Amino acid sequence: MSRKIEIDPLTKVEGHGKVTIHLDDSGNVSDAHFHVTQFRGFEKFCEGRMLWDMPVVTTRICGICPVSHHLAAVKACDDLLGLEIPGPAKKLRELMHMGQFINSHALHFFFLAAPDFILGPDSDPGKRSLIGVYERDPELAKKAIRLRKIGQTIVDMVGARPIHPVTAIPGGMSRPLSHEDRFHLIQDIREAVALSGLAVDTAWGILERYREDMPSLGCFDTQQMGMTKDGVLEFYDGPLTIKGPDNSKIAEFDGRDYLTEIGEHVEDNSWLKFPFYKKQGWPEGIYRVGPLARMNISERIGTPLANERLREFKVLGVPVNENLYYHVARTIELLYAAERAQELLRDDDIVSKDCRVRADRMSGEGVGVIEAPRGTLFHHYQTDDDGRITKANFVVATEHNNRAIDLSVKEVSKGHIKNGKLTEGILNRIEMAVRCYDPCLSCSTHAIGRMPLEVGLYAGGRRIDLLRRD
Ligand code: NI
Repeated sequence: MSRKIEIDPLTKVEGHGKVTIHLDDSGNVSDAHFHVTQFRGFEKFCEGRMLWDMPVVTTRICGICPVSHHLAAVKACDDLLGLEIPGPAKKLRELMHMGQFINSHALHFFFLAAPDFILGPDSDPGKRSLIGVYERDPELAKKAIRLRKIGQTIVDMVGARPIHPVTAIPGGMSRPLSHEDRFHLIQDIREAVALSGLAVDTAWGILERYREDMPSLGCFDTQQMGMTKDGVLEFYDGPLTIKGPDNSKIAEFDGRDYLTEIGEHVEDNSWLKFPFYKKQGWPEGIYRVGPLARMNISERIGTPLANERLREFKVLGVPVNENLYYHVARTIELLYAAERAQELLRDDDIVSKDCRVRADRMSGEGVGVIEAPRGTLFHHYQTDDDGRITKANFVVATEHNNRAIDLSVKEVSKGHIKNGKLTEGILNRIEMAVRCYDPCLSCSTHAIGRMPLEVGLYAGGRRIDLLRRD
């Protein structure tokens, strides 16, 4: 008799999602899916707000990625108003962005992903967290907390709030960095560069230990998309590149043209859409975004230590398709963000008062694109003549990765579930594959909540087993 297994909700990811696994008569996997079960409707209730409210309103989409929304929103406003912002404003925004990358990547790697590897995927789930890492290696846990705090302090000092920043405004920034804060951050950032280097070493070390598990946690071909400038990794501004499964460049386009390049497929089992590259159609045109995609498409990184790490990464071959390498890629980006923040802090422009231009109109249509920690983020607005939003569209990183996460769930379930046997460790491996992508489900459905876990094992529509985690 066929059965259905549900992992609902998924743990150690942001927001509410679930996995369903269908078993055939012999208890082997016939199909599996990743579903996003929350719905927020942010795009709809932005309608009627004033344009200049958007950079502040949209930070509330998410407590993990607020800087990304703040900056994509303000870039969409600049585009809509035809504004070219002063150089110092761009550098300040980029510094805030690097602060979020440090915070977000350190959070994901050390707090959410590393416990699976440091304590083992079959270890007691009650211990499989930063608390367990602290018991095993207190110095490492303290360094992780410190690194995350440095990122948060950058966001606070540049954005005037530690979580939901307010200083990026259409036309630039509302204020420069103070000399006092710059001095403070220059001291901090040296430490962040060193700690990020340690994160890369930690990631390589733990993946080495799990090399044999690696293919069984998801490995398949897709296209890859990300922002680069002349082949160099870029997070704030530049054209988007799509490379094929053989790593040849198949598209380079201005983010403003995203609607002609990217289509969105809809399925009835998820609130989340499935974007694809239009020229190839659905489902051939699926692509991945985020750290692994960015390492695959970038030929170089603009800072010396991270670039050296990219060169080591490229030795694996191009493109790298194993999901688990998302973690190494994420730590290389962490190092880049710390180095780039250091460069920006050493630049005197960062305290320049020339950080704002005025707008001479307030209506139109505009697109803002940015590389958020999880991947490419689009904000697209249209206004009426008074600058009131008539239409808002967001395409976020987790959305781009939706199909790839779905495929990962399918591949890992098929590889691990045999004869209907379900253990906590198998369950966790499925979640580990999802966590490689560091999905942000609040962002992607444009809710936030605690994530207990309940897995039901069904036979003929009747629940015959239940695993629960609080
Ligand atoms: Ni988010």
